[in-house]
Amino acid sequence: MADRPNVFVSRIIPEDGLAAIRAACELDLWDGDLPPPREQLLHRVAGCDGVLTLLTDRVDDEFLDAAGRKLRVVSNYAVGFDNIDVAACARRGIAVGNTPGALTETTADLAWALLMAAARRLPEGDRYVRAGNWKTWGPLLLLGHDVHGATIGIVGFGRIGQAVARRAQGFGMRILYHDVAELPESITLELDASYRPLEGLLAESDFVSLHVNLSPVTRHLINANSLAWMKPTAVLVNTSRGPVVDQVALAEALRDGVIAAAALDVTDPEPIPMDDPLVGMDNCLIVPHIASASRATRAKMAEMAAANLIAGVRGEPLPTPVQPSA
Ligand code: DGY
Repeated sequence: MADRPNVFVSRIIPEDGLAAIRAACELDLWDGDLPPPREQLLHRVAGCDGVLTLLTDRVDDEFLDAAGRKLRVVSNYAVGFDNIDVAACARRGIAVGNTPGALTETTADLAWALLMAAARRLPEGDRYVRAGNWKTWGPLLLLGHDVHGATIGIVGFGRIGQAVARRAQGFGMRILYHDVAELPESITLELDASYRPLEGLLAESDFVSLHVNLSPVTRHLINANSLAWMKPTAVLVNTSRGPVVDQVALAEALRDGVIAAAALDVTDPEPIPMDDPLVGMDNCLIVPHIASASRATRAKMAEMAAANLIAGVRGEPLPTPVQPSA
């Protein structure tokens, strides 16, 4: 039908979103398991009214030129949008949407799982058993770090950081946070969370969990200097974006005992190359960017991304827009 908007969706997302898009638009779906190669992406978005992108698709001037003048909306299937040049979209009057809120609790759950697994050395224990090394109960076997009663430092105290704090409360932890500014007491009192400058937070915390957006300011926020502020017993958890951590510095810190362990849901690049030193380290747990990967959350994200896409191609306000100032 000629009057239906043309949209490109760059990967198979849950049917909850695809069904709505099919009902409202002419859908061109990239059905590969891997992201479309760049030239394919640029080819397929040409002439589209809307595109639904993933964090693996770079949306920049080249992309927008390739899409052409009809493009009205870029709907990202993620809360993060560091893959999108939002200012370039704004200059061309193209709306940008994301999926805030949908994945807050699910991401906090995964951050917590990583924290617990690294503290109590679960992947090492699992490998130990499967390798046939379990001969007896051992007084010194796989000793880890207590989570209950410890101090957690949360860097980036937005929705997800606060959700991690709620979990920490259940474990009787002392909660410190760092953000661009102190947050109002209406938020911090209930969570019993105290503000610290980054250096102070890293120095006092037994566990550090990262929840910042990736920006020029936060790129390599955790580097050789900041790692040196941490305790030698500390555990670093990253569910934000890989480039927030200088991975070379992290590998050296883990090797030299500057910190005890790390647990990463995100790496730089993704996937992490198999010859990266972190891959071979027992005190580094790595999972493949799955923080939002529950069935319910991915379905909700699909509904939200579809709603943004459909509103955008109709020229209506997006339900969850990214502000150009972001
Ligand atoms: C996001 O939404 O930004 C996550 O990294 C993927 O769900």
